Amino acid sequence: MASVTKKQEYTGDYPEKTLYIPGPTEVREDVIQEMAQPMFGHRMDRMTDLYTTIVEDTKEFLGTDNEVIVLTASGTEFWEASTLNLVDENILVPTCGSFSERHANVAERLGKDVDRLEYEWGQAIKPEDIRETLEQSDKHYDVVATVMNESSTGVRNPIEEIGDVVAEYPDTYFVVDAVSALGGDYVDIDEHDIDVIFASTQKAFAMPPGLAVCVVSDDAYDREVDTESASWYGGFQRCLDYYDRKGQTHSTPAIPVMLAYRKQMKYMLEEGHEGRDQRHAEMTEYVHEWAREHFDLFAEEGYRSQTVSCIENTQGIDVAATIEAVSEEYDMVFSNGYGSALGEKTFRIGHMGEHTVESIKELTDAIEDVAGL
Ligand SMILES: Cc1ncc(COP(=O)(O)O)c(C=O)c1O
Repeated sequence: MASVTKKQEYTGDYPEKTLYIPGPTEVREDVIQEMAQPMFGHRMDRMTDLYTTIVEDTKEFLGTDNEVIVLTASGTEFWEASTLNLVDENILVPTCGSFSERHANVAERLGKDVDRLEYEWGQAIKPEDIRETLEQSDKHYDVVATVMNESSTGVRNPIEEIGDVVAEYPDTYFVVDAVSALGGDYVDIDEHDIDVIFASTQKAFAMPPGLAVCVVSDDAYDREVDTESASWYGGFQRCLDYYDRKGQTHSTPAIPVMLAYRKQMKYMLEEGHEGRDQRHAEMTEYVHEWAREHFDLFAEEGYRSQTVSCIENTQGIDVAATIEAVSEEYDMVFSNGYGSALGEKTFRIGHMGEHTVESIKELTDAIEDVAGL
């Protein structure tokens, strides 16, 4: 295979940048420090203490009675695992941007029969469309898979209402990709019958990358028995049975990242999901107000993300040059629009994790200065 990529030696000599991208985001200094500990074995009692602590603390933070898996992986793993574990044949994937499209693509790669319900980018998935599709289709869908926060467009889909619709179909499982939402946008998982919901912890959990969290209902756990293609690494039963028997993970986890997660989860419990949700709502309100004053918002009104804002570049500023200058002059990094279609048409601000209205304001001040707004 011919490659154009050449080695660029990592020098360790880079200026620190404050992250306002849609993940990874800022991590507390003492949480980072937790990773610098002498190593221990993943079958030692100490590991059981660590893993049972982070799993039970996560359940408490999310306010769920469902089971929790904390896996050494990024969120992508649970696109694959949830498909392998739950889908025999048909899966319905409403698509409204790049990540929901990729979810559909993953399921296709795994040989499943995928029906997309396509929305224009920027539009939200509507529960009534899901109902209509489920009512009218002559297929049985094993899974309806919906992205909560479409990070490419800044859309927050109404997964609560969609969950209520899917719950009317007891043999259809509801899978939610909440990769960039969970931890900053509260959802009552049990109330809305969400069978599987997963997140990457480098986003609103404000963690170094390396772990994915997945919440699994009893039904989804049981379902795997009937599925011959179930995932090994992300098998719900393998992960959860191992937890049940030993309080550990089935294979060697990223222990340093789990140490950091333990510390971060204590902060998250201290703030509570209501407090965290409220702080994210305040940041969102601020960014929306700022965006309306200078630009516009790309996502459909009423369906806007609480962790990632996608701002429509109505002024025609040079997005790439602005990002570069803000990085050079202010050591702050935000994101362009997703892919070639939205690259210059929009830009994105991640207001997630440990950010506050004050820290977000520092970024918007910098953008104003650089772009001459
Ligand atoms: C909505 C959504 N789903 C899935 C992913 C993939 O997550 P990861 O890169 O952690 O595998 C992302 C990443 O940005 C995302 O935003």
